Amino acid sequence: MKDYVKWLGHAAFELMLDGKRILIDPWIRGNPKAAVKLEDIEDVDIILVTHDHGDHLGDSIEIAEKFDAKLISVYEIAVYASNQGVRNAIGMNVGGDIEVDGLKIVMTPSLHSSERGCPVGFIIVGSKNTVYHAGDTGFFSDIKYYAEVYPIDVALVPIGGVYTMNPVMAARFVALFKPRIAVPMHYGTFDVIEKDPKEFKDQVERKEPTIRVIILGIGDKLEL
Ligand code: NI
Ligand code: MN
Repeated sequence: MKDYVKWLGHAAFELMLDGKRILIDPWIRGNPKAAVKLEDIEDVDIILVTHDHGDHLGDSIEIAEKFDAKLISVYEIAVYASNQGVRNAIGMNVGGDIEVDGLKIVMTPSLHSSERGCPVGFIIVGSKNTVYHAGDTGFFSDIKYYAEVYPIDVALVPIGGVYTMNPVMAARFVALFKPRIAVPMHYGTFDVIEKDPKEFKDQVERKEPTIRVIILGIGDKLEL
């Protein structure tokens, strides 16, 4: 099966990498912009959770239990998930990497807050494509060094402002590590994070024209 990235709305994505289905921050129930219903989620191999705010931890635990999927998160959230009955909760921490189902998963920093542990992002390295999900984060620059080691094909970046970077800072952020493709996320779900993704696209094109910005509609699938 071809690799792809599908936007499920807000910060939720479904990835296909090397034939493995990965969900990141699957907040489906209660997400006013969800592209799918919880019942329509197909067999999942891996769930990545960037932090435990409700719009990210979302339905992770229920989906992990349903499919016996591996739930990967910062140590404290993994312990919580395990206590909730998730059989395959895998804890790691910032800067660490693990091999799961033939994929390398690297936990990156994020500048944000959380109840349990600390917020993170993920770099997922497949044999053909490497995808980075920034989580909820303010601007930081260490990602440049991670991307030198793990060059990024597709970066999923929050642009909604208020809780994360806005389009201008998000453009500066991606210009630091120059992914092949940048996809904006975490905007437009609620009034308070209403932003124009074209502003992000314009800013990126001005700062770093080698990066292709792809504005996905909710439910859109980007084949890689
Ligand atoms: Ni958050
Ligand atoms: Mn959020």
